[in-house]
Amino acid sequence: MTTQFSVSGIELELFRYPSRQESNLQAWDAADEHLIKHLLDTEQAPANTAVINDSFGALTTALLSINASWPLTIETDAKTSLLGTQQNIERNQLNSSSITWVNSRDELPQGISLVLMKLPKNLTYFSHQLSRLSQVLPAGTQVLIGAKAKSINKSLLETIGQYLGPANASLAWKKTRVITCVADGKPRTLPKATTWSVPEFNLEISNLSNVFAANKLDIGARIMLDNMPKGNFKSIVDLGCGNGILGLHAKQVFPEAYIHFIDDSEMAVASARANWQANKLDNPALVGEQATFGWDDCLTNMSEGFRPDLVLCNPPFHQGEAITDHIAWQMFLDAFRRLKNGGILHVVGNRHLAYHVKLKRIFKNCTTVASNGKFVILQAQKISKKAQEFDSQAPSAASQTNDEPHPQSALYGKPKSK
Ligand SMILES: C[S@@+](CC[C@H](N)C(=O)[O-])C[C@H]1O[C@@H](n2cnc3c(N)ncnc32)[C@H](O)[C@@H]1O
Repeated sequence: MTTQFSVSGIELELFRYPSRQESNLQAWDAADEHLIKHLLDTEQAPANTAVINDSFGALTTALLSINASWPLTIETDAKTSLLGTQQNIERNQLNSSSITWVNSRDELPQGISLVLMKLPKNLTYFSHQLSRLSQVLPAGTQVLIGAKAKSINKSLLETIGQYLGPANASLAWKKTRVITCVADGKPRTLPKATTWSVPEFNLEISNLSNVFAANKLDIGARIMLDNMPKGNFKSIVDLGCGNGILGLHAKQVFPEAYIHFIDDSEMAVASARANWQANKLDNPALVGEQATFGWDDCLTNMSEGFRPDLVLCNPPFHQGEAITDHIAWQMFLDAFRRLKNGGILHVVGNRHLAYHVKLKRIFKNCTTVASNGKFVILQAQKISKKAQEFDSQAPSAASQTNDEPHPQSALYGKPKSK
């Protein structure tokens, strides 16, 4: 894996988040390089700049290394991007004091005079981001959008024109282009959340624009809803909750339980919260908050003493554009660490992802609860003796094959700090 970012004299060492030396995924791509090269070629002077969708901070750190006090507003929906950017700023001994951090729903500050943006995979979210910008950017503000050349077409440029202002794409360089849009100064209305229902479970679901399963129930989630685990669960985590569908239904099945919704996407966490409130799932017989909502990288920031008895999980198998199983690994390992003895991890996955191999490796047991042609539901139980064995093995379990714990297993041997 390359960690040396080198563009037009700018040298940085950049890691993805969590940082994994052995992973062959890089923390930036050629579109990041192209954007920075474009700024240098056009001799852009430091200006109040919004940086949007910077995966792990390549754009942010490059700007700070051009000018240590470049005024920046960093917008991201992904907690792992925020943490990755902060990690790379520190690693390169740069200073973050000129940065204002905002998430995908925070109000953008006034006074932005330049925008640097990466094209996200989700184009509905992209339109939403452009609409947000249209509400604060004065007419004439330049917005530079870096993307793979193959993702840029007439319809994309028209979308940009519709939501922000006229746009043109540069010549290709390393199979990427920089789109230059000039804001027209006309504020657009922000899109409403999309809504759909699951009538058989009496659930109404709403999704903000960057939330998984935008218009309908995911088929993996569907098989989970039909096959909830049996038990007397009191503390349940919906890990990678998206709109919260698994945790919402868990509360219907286990009305005595407290539910903890966690996702890397801030919009997902906000949608899960809205869905909890809209579906009125609080049990009047219980005291205190019956649901918590965390914007987090897996279970990184749950308090040390937190011991759930059930973790529900429909793991992602990509991060941004990269296909990867490291998040599933991290989710399973975090669940294993946090579950109380006897607690259960209940997972759905595409059959071909072979999650049973990972679960057996970590928990030393795995049962197939249900399956259809495409999906399988697996259950693994944390059993004390085996847990201790795994704990003592984890730091050295650093094989790179798909069937082994991730090299970063050692990371889980001690509490992670932010
Ligand atoms: C396949 S979706 C499942 C969503 C929902 N549970 C469902 O079943 O419809 C996976 C979810 O994991 C979230 N995710 C990705 N990386 C994560 C991470 N590092 N920590 C927490 N959640 C993450 C994604 O944002 C996404 O909402």
